[in-house]
Amino acid sequence: MKIALGADHGGVALKRFVHQHLEGKGHFVLNMGTDADGPVDYPDFAFKVATAVMTGEAERGIMICGSGVGACIASNKVPGVRAGLCHDTFSGHQGVEDDDMNVLCMGARVIGSQLAIEVIEAFVGARFSQEDRHVRRKNKVLAIEARFTGEQQP
Ligand code: RB5
Repeated sequence: MKIALGADHGGVALKRFVHQHLEGKGHFVLNMGTDADGPVDYPDFAFKVATAVMTGEAERGIMICGSGVGACIASNKVPGVRAGLCHDTFSGHQGVEDDDMNVLCMGARVIGSQLAIEVIEAFVGARFSQEDRHVRRKNKVLAIEARFTGEQQP
């Protein structure tokens, strides 16, 4: 899978670990930075990850900051992005299966690296169920977005 991966300074160490893991599993990682340890602003990197997903350059995104909260708020501002903050494996797969989550956000100051990998595995291995009730709910989410973007929705 082609995955856009980004972090701020709070998440850069975990990002390095995740990057290595994903490539080891055969995924293609689009590294969106930051690669420095100095302070940066999470919206700059969330924007890059979310835009890669919006344009289809990447199928999914993973964005890591200190808590995951800022990463999630910023990612969800990009149309077409459905970002979720997950620190457990159930949310990691169910967010995709039921809600078609396409960006996973995590907080490196919240989650250990091994659990982060398990959450990522759950996220990457999951597919949207396409069940009627979930499609209906997703379309309602898209309709909310369309009220502000003016885009036509199914
Ligand atoms: C940066 O110190 C921190 O605020 C950021 O990584 C993140 O936790 C924001 O939600």
